[in-house]
Amino acid sequence: MEKGGMTEKLAALLLAHRGEYLSGEAISRSLGVTRAAVWKGMDRLRSEGWQVDSATNRGYRLAGAPDLLTAPLVEAFLPGPREAPVLCYGELDSTNLQGQRLALEGAKSGTVVLADRQTSGAGRMGRDFYSPGGVGIYLSYLLAPRCGGERLSLLTSCAGLAVCGAIRRTTGLEPAIKWPNDIILEGKKACGILTKLLSDGEDGSIAWAVIGIGVNVAHRSFPPQLEDKAISLKMAGGEVPRARLAAEIIAGLDEIFSGSGWQEGDPALLEELRWLSCTLGRRVTVISPAGEEEGEALDIAPDGGLVVRFGNGTRTVSSGEVSVRGLLGYL
Ligand code: BTN
Repeated sequence: MEKGGMTEKLAALLLAHRGEYLSGEAISRSLGVTRAAVWKGMDRLRSEGWQVDSATNRGYRLAGAPDLLTAPLVEAFLPGPREAPVLCYGELDSTNLQGQRLALEGAKSGTVVLADRQTSGAGRMGRDFYSPGGVGIYLSYLLAPRCGGERLSLLTSCAGLAVCGAIRRTTGLEPAIKWPNDIILEGKKACGILTKLLSDGEDGSIAWAVIGIGVNVAHRSFPPQLEDKAISLKMAGGEVPRARLAAEIIAGLDEIFSGSGWQEGDPALLEELRWLSCTLGRRVTVISPAGEEEGEALDIAPDGGLVVRFGNGTRTVSSGEVSVRGLLGYL
């Protein structure tokens, strides 16, 4: 589909009115094109896998759409217009890398980078993030947060809340958060979050946070090395068009990050984080450059850190410094 072209606009219009008939005349008026152009556009959409019903005197109705991630489709599912753009790419090395490049070029805070597939998708601790085309959401949200680096855990945790809410609303599934950055379904990882900070050389504050979110949406299976750790929403019984889920995630991030409550340890956000956590109450191994230490995860601190009781006392660990592994399998 030609980017930004008539067919893409037609697809977005049909999606925004899915389930309803739209007359050829209403469509041609809304897009500012002739009836013949609408007819041609419908033909092109059908050849690209869209199912469009047409009925005499009623017009056209969308009956089924291919699962594409394009800006007009994502925007059709957003609650309203937003100031910063949603930029969709077919393929990128990594949306986080592209986000960092755009930030350095002076992007607007709130800019979203989305890719259908990544060739160098990155996870935490130098790991790869499995990023095949057509089945996942690879999204980076650019935020100029004006805060210090100690807010990293909160940024990532709040992004987790937005993702959990979006999954719940669109699929009815009930995800949990493995502190600080994995979204879990049926004991396996359905989404990972990796936040990159670009600091301001002058005073060391964060100039940009690039919040990278990778969701396994429609995978039917995973490579053998991921089989026992990874799951997709589809495998857990949740079916949702990627454009719709991406829009819900973006709307959730916009809502959380448009205020300053997230930075101030908003009690409601903290309560939600505790409620969704599948780490609290478990025995965990905290892994840092200094080594591994076993303890019990007690609470989420107001700064988003994990409060852990170790043999020699209770401390709060921050997501920038450590990773946490459960004692029994992945969780
Ligand atoms: C992890 O699970 O360790 C974090 C995974 C983060 C993956 C996302 S996909 C979008 C963004 N681009 C990347 O290269 N990584 C993040």
